[in-house]
Amino acid sequence: MKRVLTIFLLLLLLEHYQSGAVIFKMTNAVCESYNKSWVEFNVCRLRAVSRNKVSFNVDAMLHHPVHNVFVKAQLMKRANGYKPWLYKVNFDGCQFIRRRNSALIRIVWELFKEFSTINHTCPYVGLQRVKDFYLRSEKLPTPIPTGDYLLLIDWVFNKKPQAATNVYFTFVEDL
Ligand SMILES: *[C@@H]1O[C@H](CO)[C@@H](O)[C@H](O)[C@H]1NC(C)=O
Ligand SMILES: *[C@@H]1O[C@H](CO)[C@@H](O)[C@H](O)[C@H]1NC(C)=O
Repeated sequence: MKRVLTIFLLLLLLEHYQSGAVIFKMTNAVCESYNKSWVEFNVCRLRAVSRNKVSFNVDAMLHHPVHNVFVKAQLMKRANGYKPWLYKVNFDGCQFIRRRNSALIRIVWELFKEFSTINHTCPYVGLQRVKDFYLRSEKLPTPIPTGDYLLLIDWVFNKKPQAATNVYFTFVEDL
């Protein structure tokens, strides 16, 4: 009887966990080109699919081939304005695609890879697309503290920042 009760409680817990007890969704997105003769954003849009699901679509046109990509990423957390949270990550995008050699970047990549056309090695040219991407808390190795976040990404081609994609999101842990 005790065992049955334990299993029952476990099932209840599991159900609670799976019923979307966590809110993890984007709240704003800004794409900016610093050099429109190279990068042009035709689409950069969030769409509310349901109350706790927001999808993100990006169409970026690369008018010239990109042979080297340096990604500068910084995660910010809101507390009287957005303040740096954790650390800055700078990495060689072409090398990451070839070797998947960073655990932290892999977390973001796992969230996002199946929604994008950038899962191939360099160079990149023409239309780059992120389609109906949304955040899934079950893809995170560990929950993050409840709060509002901003992921700033600068895209550096040929050693100069050419574009930025900045995504605001919120994480609410159910208590
Ligand atoms: C802007 O893009 C063009 C390619 O379209 C490139 O030749 C030029 O070097 C870029 N400008 C800067 C400041 O990087
Ligand atoms: C693209 O993704 C698939 C599935 O995740 C993977 O097997 C493949 O190696 C990836 N291709 C490249 C070039 O990274």
